[in-house]
Amino acid sequence: MSRAVTPPVTTGRTRSGRPYRLRAAREADTGALLRLHDAVAAEGRWMTGVPGARSALEQTLTVASAIARGDLMLVAEVDGEVVGEVTVSRRWDRSSRAIADLAVAVGEGYRDEGLGRALVEAAIAWSRAAGLVRLALRVLPDNRRAVALYRKLGFEEEGRSRAAADPAEAERELLLMALALD
Ligand SMILES: CC(C)(COP(=O)(O)OP(=O)(O)OC[C@H]1O[C@@H](n2cnc3c(N)ncnc32)[C@H](O)[C@@H]1OP(=O)(O)O)[C@@H](O)C(=O)NCCC(=O)NCCS
Repeated sequence: MSRAVTPPVTTGRTRSGRPYRLRAAREADTGALLRLHDAVAAEGRWMTGVPGARSALEQTLTVASAIARGDLMLVAEVDGEVVGEVTVSRRWDRSSRAIADLAVAVGEGYRDEGLGRALVEAAIAWSRAAGLVRLALRVLPDNRRAVALYRKLGFEEEGRSRAAADPAEAERELLLMALALD
């Protein structure tokens, strides 16, 4: 049975010594999160999304829904600015609610500093505390840094699927990875 758990605020330092803070996202973070997603999507190499894929209203609803459902939406702040995010979204059907999908992003300029690891480790700890049994994710196979991070944290490859971010886009192969928490 999954439980509602409030994520703790945690602080630390990046590899280059800058202080960071991980905290639960608030509705006021909507604009910053949208900019982060669009900027990462605009790089065109890390994920299937395209800039503008999510409207401001959809992002507002995503944050509000995560808060209302008790899902995890954690942001990483450096100098008071949101530079990263991890989400753990429980599946919607009752029979699968102990399974959740994880997504993480760190802005360009803040990568390889340990923030992605800190975010995913916090997400795993939260998921265990929340009583989840399984975390699943999808990643582009050539996103070596992300795949390496997930493997280091115990995620295993389970297969491949194909998806297109947009009907006009070519399908891309995705690696399915998961972590058993029980
Ligand atoms: C993937 C992402 C979340 C990782 O976060 P990050 O802050 O850059 O990464 P970190 O510095 O925390 O750690 C990366 C780890 O992978 C290792 N790593 C990085 N590149 C690697 C590579 N090519 N091969 C093997 N290991 C690699 C690092 O050494 C580090 O390991 P360590 O913690 O044991 O030292 C971040 O780079 C990102 O958001 N990228 C763009 C968006 C994205 O890819 N999101 C995920 C989509 S599924």
